[in-house]
Amino acid sequence: MNTLIKSLAGLGLGAALTLTAGSALAAGGGGCGTFTNAEGVEEHLACSTAPIDFTNKGSLQNGAKIFMNYCAGCHSAQYVRHSRIAKDLEIPPELVEKYLMVTTDQIGDHINAEIDPEVQASWFGAAPPDLSLETRLRGDDWVYTYLLSFYEDPSRPWGANNLVLANAAISCIA
Ligand code: HEC
Repeated sequence: MNTLIKSLAGLGLGAALTLTAGSALAAGGGGCGTFTNAEGVEEHLACSTAPIDFTNKGSLQNGAKIFMNYCAGCHSAQYVRHSRIAKDLEIPPELVEKYLMVTTDQIGDHINAEIDPEVQASWFGAAPPDLSLETRLRGDDWVYTYLLSFYEDPSRPWGANNLVLANAAISCIA
């Protein structure tokens, strides 16, 4: 599981999306949240560094595969076209069509979860945000740390919580 998350955070978002839609140099500056420890003391969570290697094409491709198979069912990436992933990650278009297009059969289409965000909000408690510019907004390390920071919390509606995004509606890595 840890490997999955690592490649995903380092690649699925940090690369597949930053490569196609933004800059990988987003400032993560603000740290990764605060939480209250078992003694009731507020602690600051340092961000972990996302292990992104833009020269490792196979790993980047794997990240795209993970993103499309595990995340794109809930999250759109409305500014990213499937064809752009094929181009940037050097994946033959026919393989993108076969393995990476889950909600459309047109390679020029943007990544769209094709579910009404309001309906999703009524299921999960919050709508899954569009992730096109997520790493630009939050920084690679924030996203990476977020994905590593889910924990079980029976007091939450879906039984999970997150150290970085307190009271996150749902676990993204279930
Ligand atoms: C079952 C639906 C679902 C799946 C699958 C899912 N997510 Fe999420 N995700 C959500 C929801 C809902 C939120 C909003 C949480 C909130 O704001 O409380 C969210 C929030 C996020 C955020 C934080 C956005 C922000 O800046 O606040 C990131 C990053 C994210 N998801 C990435 C991913 C990745 C990467 C995957 C694939 C491993 C994934 N998600 C899979 C539903 C999902």
